[in-house]
Amino acid sequence: MRCRYRAWRYDRRAMEDALNRLRSLVGPKGWLDSPATLAPYEKEERGLFHGKARAVLRPANTSEVAEALKICNAANIAIVPQSGNTGLVGGGVPDNSGTQIVLSLDRLDRIRAFDPVNDTMTVEAGVILADIQKRAAESGRLFPLSLAAEGSCRIGGNLSTNAGGINVLRYGMARDLVLGLEVVLADGRVLDAMTGLRKDNTGYDLKQIFLGAEGTLGVITAAVLKLFPALREVETCFVALPDPQAGIDLLGRAKAESGGNVQAFELTQRRLIDFVLAHIPGTVDPLAEKHPWYALIEFAAGDLGGALKGMVERLLERAMEDGLILDAAIASSEQQRKALWKLRESMTEAQKPEGASIKHDISVPVSAVPDFLARGTAAVEAFVPGVRVCAFGHAGDGNIHFNVSRPLDWADDRFQAVRHEMNARVHAIVAEYRGSISAEHGIGILKRDELPLYKDATALELMRTLKAAFDPNNILNPGKLLP
Ligand code: FAD
Ligand code: MLT
Ligand code: ZN
Repeated sequence: MRCRYRAWRYDRRAMEDALNRLRSLVGPKGWLDSPATLAPYEKEERGLFHGKARAVLRPANTSEVAEALKICNAANIAIVPQSGNTGLVGGGVPDNSGTQIVLSLDRLDRIRAFDPVNDTMTVEAGVILADIQKRAAESGRLFPLSLAAEGSCRIGGNLSTNAGGINVLRYGMARDLVLGLEVVLADGRVLDAMTGLRKDNTGYDLKQIFLGAEGTLGVITAAVLKLFPALREVETCFVALPDPQAGIDLLGRAKAESGGNVQAFELTQRRLIDFVLAHIPGTVDPLAEKHPWYALIEFAAGDLGGALKGMVERLLERAMEDGLILDAAIASSEQQRKALWKLRESMTEAQKPEGASIKHDISVPVSAVPDFLARGTAAVEAFVPGVRVCAFGHAGDGNIHFNVSRPLDWADDRFQAVRHEMNARVHAIVAEYRGSISAEHGIGILKRDELPLYKDATALELMRTLKAAFDPNNILNPGKLLP
């Protein structure tokens, strides 16, 4: 007994000593430990997960992150990296032990360099995504990562979740937009892979291991991002569809006829439009009548002398003649374009007042989207009669947010209690198409225990091997991603 007591006292002293060193490393601006200041870092966007942090550390630069990790690794203090805290799977919140430290990257917010000839921007992890897009646009460039949370999510979080969003069908996921990366490893060493090269075949592409790793293998502190030419002609339309199959047929035509100029193709069922109109002030239905399904399509190109508009009009006319679309509205001003996107970007928010929702962020091959929607809907309606399916999302890349709102006469708790069973039923259908149970939001805590059911056993084993090699003391976001 005495021995164990001594060991406990020793650990506690070591921890207090480490905390004092961390506090003086970052100074008063970088240290939060009062309940009121900790609170926003201890919970996440959906209110599903909350924990208790020992402190929040807000280092000002990469060297401070490196020194902090060295101290934490030596004292076995767990670190939870956090950027904009908009993640949807609970990956950025501490556990309930009160011993974990949230490492916020929000003070690493500098744009280090902009190279217009190389078409790259070098940014620190805490830069807000919308600020990166804005800086690119000011110089006639495009940074195409775009999602509804772009005003508050930060690039470190985007890269750590390998975020998707609305332009994936043309530019790929976040990992496709990165040329170089700076990462602080668990023991405080800094991996400097900050090249802006499009060609580099000198062995393993180590940066890819940290992209989408959700803070379990290292802390991303900076990146070199790929830029693209700004698009001068943009046509945005909102079309009514008889069913999802018509939408997928239209997508095929749109890609072929525009020569690859489809920038976004978002599908939604009517229920989401009803929720947005009911709960988001200032939104209006773009079409006179209600229809079962819709697609919001954006085409974009360089300077074609105004030809893009004619192409889109011809495409829609023919699609209407062939019965693929029932009605359409084309934005004729930037204001109208923004109004159409507001409908789409408000969908997450508009589901909240409707009560508990069970999310499925799934992907299947684009060709299988209509079949999945029919089978998924039948499965959840049979399981819980009265549920309100809210299917929408990035159908152009095969990613559907198959969110299910509770029946009107069920309490939130009762509905949350069937979450695992409903997930299992929907994900079993997804697996039949060799689809993914997390297309873009990540695994975090939300899907951690389900992962082994769907991930190849060898892949999981290799993931564990990587974790043990990069973080032998398991101080980096323990309990997240890996079961
Ligand atoms: P956080 O929430 O702070 O962190 C996310 C994860 O990354 C956590 O596990 C955290 O520990 C880890 N992490 C954070 N920073 C670092 C770092 N520097 N180094 C290592 N690990 C780190 N996501 C999409 O993919 N597509 C969408 O279309 C989309 N739409 C959304 C719409 C809304 C309204 C909301 C609220 C969210 C949406 N999301 C979407 C989810 C979320 O915005 C993304 O996952 C985003 O990339 C998270 O960035 P963040 O800065 O908020 O990260
Ligand atoms: C979106 O695309 O709007 C989000 O990823 C969807 C969600 O909140 O489920
Ligand atoms: Zn999405």
